[in-house]
Amino acid sequence: MENYAEKVVILTGACGGIGEVIAEAFAQAGARLGLCDIRTENLSRTADKCRQHGASVYSSDIDVSDEDPVRSFCETVSKTFGRIDCLINTVGIVDCPGDVQSLPLSMWNRTLAVNLTSAFLMAKYAVPHMKPHGGAILNIASVSGLANQEQEMVYSVTKAALLSLTRSEAIDLAKHGIRANAISPGSVETPLLEAAVNQNAERFGRTPEDQWHLWRSQYPTQRFTSPQEIAELALFLCSERAANITGANFTIDGGLMALLPER
Ligand SMILES: NC(=O)c1ccc[n+]([C@@H]2O[C@H](COP(=O)([O-])OP(=O)(O)OC[C@H]3O[C@@H](n4cnc5c(N)ncnc54)[C@H](O)[C@@H]3O)[C@@H](O)[C@H]2O)c1
Repeated sequence: MENYAEKVVILTGACGGIGEVIAEAFAQAGARLGLCDIRTENLSRTADKCRQHGASVYSSDIDVSDEDPVRSFCETVSKTFGRIDCLINTVGIVDCPGDVQSLPLSMWNRTLAVNLTSAFLMAKYAVPHMKPHGGAILNIASVSGLANQEQEMVYSVTKAALLSLTRSEAIDLAKHGIRANAISPGSVETPLLEAAVNQNAERFGRTPEDQWHLWRSQYPTQRFTSPQEIAELALFLCSERAANITGANFTIDGGLMALLPER
């Protein structure tokens, strides 16, 4: 198991289905944590779970698309713990359906702000605290950044841009000993996935059971990814064992992106 003793890790979207599992994994590995999310109650539940693993935690209920709260979050974490080593951007909104004709500008702007601008802002204000000793940035993207679905335009645009941001961070920050990588999951067993399955079942007139089966059977491994599997990869990528890995994107999707549709 990775050892994060003395390391300080900050995480956005910290009480989400994937974020909470990553936060707990780093807590168990000995990290001190700076957690942020917009949902106050859920965030304090996640912070408590991490404390139960023995971690010191600073948490703050901010909107990560807002510059001032992001700046002061990073400053406070650095003041509280004396350093920042790793930044993990997990925040993301997916409920933004529409195509180029139907999507309202307000939804386009909001999705870009939450899924993309937040990662830029967090890096902008965390990097100065990483520069003295080096560090690691990890952006949680999606297979939707690599291939697109009908009526999911802006979500895909943000995830593709997040991969591009990751590459630029890797190139520009290497001289400071800061690495940047991305994980692109396929469907992950989370409340978000459950909601999406139910929504599609309704949309296409299927039972939820049929919808689960259909969705799952599109994956060569015939299953979804667990949040723990994402956390394991995150622990590795942010550690010294990945010291020469930067600018990379790791799909974790049961082979979905390797598959051509049936002819
Ligand atoms: N669940 C999946 O199947 C899946 C698949 C591929 C990629 N992803 C990506 O993984 C990440 C996490 O997904 P998840 O399933 O945990 O989603 P989730 O909705 O459970 O978690 C996202 C978290 O972000 C928080 N958040 C939303 N807007 C915010 C804002 N403006 N400021 C601060 N916090 C805000 C939410 O409160 C929530 O806790 C997302 O970026 C998502 O796009 C998820």
